[in-house]
Amino acid sequence: MEITRDTASLRQLLHFLRGKGGRVAFVPTMGNLHAGHAQLVRHARSISPVVVASIFVNPLQFGEGEDYASYPSTLDADRELLDDLDADVLFLPGVEDIYPGGSEHTATVVVPGLNAILEGEHRPTHFDGVSTVVAKLFGLVQPDIAVFGEKDYQQLLLIRQMVADLCMPVDIEAVATVREADGLAMSSRNSYLGANERAVAAQLYNTLLDVKTLVESGEADYTGVEAAARQQLEEAGFVVDYVSIRRAADLAVPAPGERVLRALAAARLGTTRLIDNI
Ligand code: PAF
Repeated sequence: MEITRDTASLRQLLHFLRGKGGRVAFVPTMGNLHAGHAQLVRHARSISPVVVASIFVNPLQFGEGEDYASYPSTLDADRELLDDLDADVLFLPGVEDIYPGGSEHTATVVVPGLNAILEGEHRPTHFDGVSTVVAKLFGLVQPDIAVFGEKDYQQLLLIRQMVADLCMPVDIEAVATVREADGLAMSSRNSYLGANERAVAAQLYNTLLDVKTLVESGEADYTGVEAAARQQLEEAGFVVDYVSIRRAADLAVPAPGERVLRALAAARLGTTRLIDNI
């Protein structure tokens, strides 16, 4: 695996790899890789002869008081994992490569609508940071395919919308959420959970499973289902930001009779904020 930190050598490397033929698949990450990321890279490897991964902790997608400064970094282990997974290139840009004029003075990409609901209500600047950095990374890597996890379902839809709206020639591939044995969705932020919190964290997924069961059994009062799920989580010790049943295609509030749905939730255990969807 080649490791590159600067954009000029990335370009050279990609020129060479493209010359060998085939499409380039890209897996953007913020590092601290776990089995969920490994699955993204495996998927990229299975569909493409050239696999590029990036690690960049993007300041623009963290709000005030969030964990930008303390975001876990495990570069040696990440490098080893990506090498084992047979990635071709690891791109490790610095903040100055992505934000040459500083992260506060940059052209931004805004995906209206999806950036303001659910996660966007609770993290108002988050998705503008995500769409901006992903657009920049796409500009640098110029992938044919990019792979994202369903764990961040709203992010996945937002990136799809950005690519469609800006006519970017990138196919977006989604990979199912990878879970711990008890159902907790894999996330770098799980490492923040204390032992007692970790013991109840899987209740988030179990609650979403209950929502799914109720909806699949024909319960049509979604507001009632959401309220019951919220209460269940609060009783388990969570501080709930939202539990919401939405139309899967665009996260709009579903019309009666809508059948293809996603239930999404965000809740805090102590200082750790967890999200999940089903
Ligand atoms: O999902 C993530 O890890 C990040 O939001 C992403 C897509 C790498 C952008 O920084």
